Amino acid sequence: MTKIQTLSKDLRNKISAGEVVERPASVVKELMENSLDAGASEITVVVEKGGQQLIQVTDNGAGINSVDIPKAIERYSTSKIKKLDDLFTIDTFGFRGEALASVASVSELDIASCQEGKEGAEVKVQNGECSEIRPAPRVRGTQITVHNLFYNTPARRKFMKSPRTELRKIIQTIKRMALSHPEVNIILSADEKEVVNVQPESLEERIASLFDPTYQENLLSVQLQKGDYSFSGFIGNLNLVRSRPGDQYIFLNRRYIKNRLLNSAVYSGYQSLTKRGEFPFFALNLVIPPDQIDVNVHPMKIEVRFKDEWRVYHVLKSGITDSLSDVLETIPYFEKMTGDSNVKESSISTSRVGSVKQEIFPFNRRIPGPVQSSAQLERAKSYASELATRQESSSRIDVENIWQVHKKYVVSEISSGLVIIDQHVAHERILFEEAMNTFNTGAMASQALLFPESLDFSPDEYSVLLEVLPFLEKIGFRMKETEKYKVELEAIPSEMGWGNERRVIKDIIDHYLSHQKEYSSMQENLAASFACHAAVKAGDTLSKDEMQELVNRLFGTKHPYYCPHGRPIIVQLSLDELDKRFERE
Ligand SMILES: Nc1ncnc2c1ncn2[C@@H]1O[C@H](COP(=O)(O)OP(=O)(O)OP(=O)(O)O)[C@@H](O)[C@H]1O
Ligand SMILES: [Mg+2]
Repeated sequence: MTKIQTLSKDLRNKISAGEVVERPASVVKELMENSLDAGASEITVVVEKGGQQLIQVTDNGAGINSVDIPKAIERYSTSKIKKLDDLFTIDTFGFRGEALASVASVSELDIASCQEGKEGAEVKVQNGECSEIRPAPRVRGTQITVHNLFYNTPARRKFMKSPRTELRKIIQTIKRMALSHPEVNIILSADEKEVVNVQPESLEERIASLFDPTYQENLLSVQLQKGDYSFSGFIGNLNLVRSRPGDQYIFLNRRYIKNRLLNSAVYSGYQSLTKRGEFPFFALNLVIPPDQIDVNVHPMKIEVRFKDEWRVYHVLKSGITDSLSDVLETIPYFEKMTGDSNVKESSISTSRVGSVKQEIFPFNRRIPGPVQSSAQLERAKSYASELATRQESSSRIDVENIWQVHKKYVVSEISSGLVIIDQHVAHERILFEEAMNTFNTGAMASQALLFPESLDFSPDEYSVLLEVLPFLEKIGFRMKETEKYKVELEAIPSEMGWGNERRVIKDIIDHYLSHQKEYSSMQENLAASFACHAAVKAGDTLSKDEMQELVNRLFGTKHPYYCPHGRPIIVQLSLDELDKRFERE
């Protein structure tokens, strides 16, 4: 074995740098975090060639005292903590005194800085060596310029992707910073083109600026305080669901973090509205006391440790579920109003519609989406009252004009064109919600079987049956045990068609066992399975009365637009679209 030797300072620095500075985007992150720690309200980032040639970050923060500038690039030199205890009360992004030292060891670095009312100063750092301090312009703030990143670490340089890819990662980093700090003016220019320029604004506006303006009307604000934990931010409605992940942002005390458990808390908060492989938008900031978390576990601080991760999970999940019950009542592009002219904020009534037959449902194309901010609320109100005063009969769907096509779809006319409803999923949605309600209150009606069916079960199936029996009874099934593992089915839910009684209980049990992971509760699983079995199928002929009842009851549900698995129930075809197809323009 060769002799053990202590590594040189230069080599030590380069090894540590490898952990902190993985690629240009990590330099941008470290520099911007320093700017935010310095209280900057404006940060300008300039990059060339995906950051490999140049990264420059300029801020208007507190600046560095001129004599301290050389210290800033020394490892373990920081102004942010002094003693061990401070580690447990960290309220800054930085605390290790490592970032600038790391960047300096793998690039050529210039630092210019000036504190309020003091002289400005500037140094150049090459091969980790600091030049003399020279005077610089008296402009409050700090400018850090990084040239030739990884010029002295060829292996690292080789791992670099194309400038385009590196720029994409930089933009991603900047998006995260911009989302957690909407009050800060952030500018990015790349190869002399302005890529991002966001002015101080509210988080809602910031999301619209960073993504696109349509996001704003599809957002729901969430806010929750539970003991010393709280979180706030925005989640997207189903219009912002994508089939690939990417726009899910969780911040912890305004620091972007990656945490699969917390992401899944949000997903499961959406319950059955989204399915596996569907990713809703969210940008949420958790506020948790620093002594409940440990940020010092990952070189890039992107993973953190929680004292009680499951507590965070549950707080998050329940907050999301609560908020969603509102947002999904006001799905954009479709809006139901009751016949009277008093339009409520969330206009979908919760009454069971069976009893409110012959209501007229106007559809209109752009009532503002989820109603939350007072400005939005005002807009929604004035829009609604305008509609009410105009009494535009032309914007209503009258259930009189209704047809069935291919024994599969129900089609009805509305002023702006027509709507097409999938009869099976519509009925499924109705029955799902009714079953879920039934589990909490009362019971659904039963119809007795003229000839009770005798059913045999295996011991496993039988134990599942016993587990779910109370719920099945609430939906309207009646059965009694005749022998061990044998029951007699006496009644089935009135909603259910005749004919497949023999299979239905077994199917429900099979479905229950094989789809357990997809649902957040036993009730949801049973309700979904019952709804699927009992709903009218494609191929069933519906009378006009049945179609009218279907539409009426559909609009009595909380979420008439999406089935429990997240697929659409209603498709709208506008006159504009038809005109376009017929080249009438
Ligand atoms: N933009 C800036 N404005 C004001 N001071 C700065 C700025 N950038 C760096 N500094 C000063 O330089 C010091 C070193 O910065 P560096 O990023 O290396 O360490 P840190 O932020 O303290 O900790 P960490 O390594 O965790 O980021 C900081 O503690 C701070 O005092
Ligand atoms: Mg730092």
